Amino acid sequence: MTQLTGIRACVFDAYGTLFDVNSAARAMQDRLGETWPALADTWRTKQLQYTWLRGLAGRHADFWQVTGDALDFALQTHGFDDAGLRHDLMQLYLRLNAFPEVADTLRALKASGFKLAILSNGTPAMLQAAVENAAIAEVMDAILSVEEVGVYKPHPSVYQLAVDRLGVHGSEICFLSSNGWDAYSAKAFGFRVLWCNRYGQPPERIPEAPDAQIRSLAELPPLLKSR
Ligand code: LAC
Repeated sequence: MTQLTGIRACVFDAYGTLFDVNSAARAMQDRLGETWPALADTWRTKQLQYTWLRGLAGRHADFWQVTGDALDFALQTHGFDDAGLRHDLMQLYLRLNAFPEVADTLRALKASGFKLAILSNGTPAMLQAAVENAAIAEVMDAILSVEEVGVYKPHPSVYQLAVDRLGVHGSEICFLSSNGWDAYSAKAFGFRVLWCNRYGQPPERIPEAPDAQIRSLAELPPLLKSR
């Protein structure tokens, strides 16, 4: 794969990219039984749908609210009526597992001189809890939440936040997301983009295709050059 040159900053999506959104339901499989993967899938799908619906309707609510609303839908869909279970799953969402390669990859990129940031739908409190749990807070130059602009991805004002706050041009940012729609939308905005396609999903049919795909963030460091 050809290297991306002229990169000054790496900006990461959080959920699905750095943090495994399925790890909350997986940790509760004793209580959820064999339904846990289906519940995790409904929870995530509905969570994202609610971000897009709220954006289109101009009725923003923060990601903690949306994540809880989506969990309520998912629990009811799969036949659970248990306030304790809901509480425990939400608490687990504050300490999702980071994917195994995340910490080492971020440290390698930091040592090479790249600025590092998170740009996410998550609230500042959710993101802070996740990075502290994963022990990656110290390598991050910025943790950017859509709460600063009051609308969810893929609104262009979200991607603009990274340009403004990092003080680098969009073409100097390598954006990483495992969410295909986020990777395509960030490319359409003007970032250089690597789609971390962890699950081998087919290409999206929206503008605009990422520069390349990787399967794990561990592939990232040799692909980036600052000149
Ligand atoms: C985020 C969602 C898209 O972290 O995963 O912004």
